[in-house]
Amino acid sequence: MFERFNTPEELFNWKLGSALTMERDIVEMLDSLIEEAHGDGLKQVLRTHQSETRGHVGNIEEAFHSLGWDVDDSPCPVIEAIDKEGKANIRKSDESLVDSVILSGAMETEHHEIAVYEGMIIHARALGHDAVAQLLRRNLEEEEQALQKARTLAEQVATAGSRQLA
Ligand SMILES: [Fe+2]
Ligand SMILES: [Fe+2]
Repeated sequence: MFERFNTPEELFNWKLGSALTMERDIVEMLDSLIEEAHGDGLKQVLRTHQSETRGHVGNIEEAFHSLGWDVDDSPCPVIEAIDKEGKANIRKSDESLVDSVILSGAMETEHHEIAVYEGMIIHARALGHDAVAQLLRRNLEEEEQALQKARTLAEQVATAGSRQLA
């Protein structure tokens, strides 16, 4: 644990640990979302992304190894907050709204992951850690695809929901 960051390497080490926590927490969060989801299509998208997310954990661990650093996690409060808010909203929602709540949370999560990886890739390149930048880019590409799938499903679910009201 760093008390202060004095070099770009220390800051990058911390951010890599935070990304590790982020991905580990998302694997767990997806477990409960798969249970809560109603639509088969949504369940499938969540399952697929859970298995990709396990790969993201592996890529970050590999990044630590390739830098010669111990695998060490650091806090990631943003995902905890998204998880907490999502769970609270699911509890308050009628069953017919649960998939919409899940998909909004999924898009928020993917946007956060994308921002994290975009920042980290800039710093990995600047520090000359090209192999690490490559590993992070693999994660980033899957987050972008997951965001696109969640966006498409959210549109379908929202449109079907408003048709029922008409
Ligand atoms: Fe991820
Ligand atoms: Fe993701």
